[in-house]
This record gives sequence, C-alpha cells and structure tokens, in this order.
Amino acid sequence: MSERVFTVAIDGPAAAGKGTVSKAVAAHFGFAHLDTGLLYRAVGAKVLAGQEAEAAASALVPADLEASNLRSSAVAEAASKVAAIEAVRAALVAFQRSFAERPGGAVLDGRDIGTVICPDAAAKLFVTASAEVRARRRFEELRGKGSDETFAQVLADVEARDARDMARAHAPLRPADDAVLIDTSDMTIEQAVAAAIDAIGLRL
Ligand code: DC
Repeated sequence: MSERVFTVAIDGPAAAGKGTVSKAVAAHFGFAHLDTGLLYRAVGAKVLAGQEAEAAASALVPADLEASNLRSSAVAEAASKVAAIEAVRAALVAFQRSFAERPGGAVLDGRDIGTVICPDAAAKLFVTASAEVRARRRFEELRGKGSDETFAQVLADVEARDARDMARAHAPLRPADDAVLIDTSDMTIEQAVAAAIDAIGLRL
C-alpha cells in the first residue's frame, strides 16, 4: 500500500462485530486502526472517577486508551452517557480526523465516523445485527470472563445503549447514505470479515 490517505469508516451498534471486523480489515490491508469507542470509554472512566466530562475529554491523551478497566459494563454505560454531550464529542473530533488522515490508510470504527467524523471516507460500512444476537454474543463473552449477569440483563443493557445512541441529538447512530450495510446476524466472523474486505476492495 502506498503512503496515500485512505480512510475506512466502520459504524454500527454495540456488539455487532464491528471491532472484530475492523481489526481484521486493518490487518488485511495494512492500515492503522482506531476503536473510537475507547475515547468515549476513557472519558466515561474519568467521569466515574470524579472528573467533569468536557474537561476530561479535552485533556485526553493516547495513554488513557490503555487503561485496564475500559471494557467493564459500568464504563460502557458511562461512555454512552458522555457520548451524548456535544462538547465532549467536539473535543474528540480533531484527534479522530488526524488519525483518519495518516498516510498509509486508517480504519476507524464507532457510531458517527461515516456521518460526522469522516463524511468523505473512501469506504463506509455499517455493521449491524439484531439486538438478540448481539446480546447473546455479549452474554457468552461476559460469561467466559466469569460474569454472572443474566441474558435478560445483557439484552436490556444492549437495548438501553442502542436507544440512547440512536436518540441523542448530536451525531446519533445511523448509517451514512453511502454506507454498505453488513448484517452479521446470520454470519460467522469469517463471513463478516470477507464481506467487509470485498466492500473495501471495490473502493481501493
Ligand atoms: O463501541 P463502544 O461500545 O466501545 O462505544 C462505547 C460508547 O461510546 C457507545 O455507547 C457510544 C459511544 N460512541 C460514540 O458515541 N461514538 C463513537 N464514534 C464511538 C462510540
């Protein structure tokens, strides 16, 4: 791959397989990858630790994305709340855009990459799956980590986060008009990754 800018925007709801697809796509094409959910999670974690949301977003440094607690349910919930605050989103735009424009290609996954952060991205995907399928996957993952949350709790969390992410006034979760839709409900990981690679390959 040359050193040209080539941005891939991958959006979709929680637990649709976006992260797995994004990592695989980045590895396949040799692009850098940014999980933008980590930015909101890092801000959420700081808010849980007592900081004010906008100040935490403005002061965020790359090392904050390495914090060990960012995958917890409590942090996910806090992330979804801070993500509804316009000033928090605004504070995170420049970092995401400069990542997107790095030479050699970049994959960014999130909720508003194709619609707001990188509306001119060369390739846009919207990776989704039914709420039940996403909750089932999250439930199995949590159980594997020893969590005793019930399926009903996990499904309720997924639905609450979807509702908040889609209903917010600023940069709500929705597919860009020119995004390729990949519904992974009945796909294996390999099939989802292959569909994504095909869609992106057509834009290269
Ligand atoms: O993808 P994730 O589950 O790590 O995201 C955590 C929260 O951050 C999610 O509820 C919505 C928010 N988010 C966002 O609003 N915009 C993004 N580009 C990425 C995540």
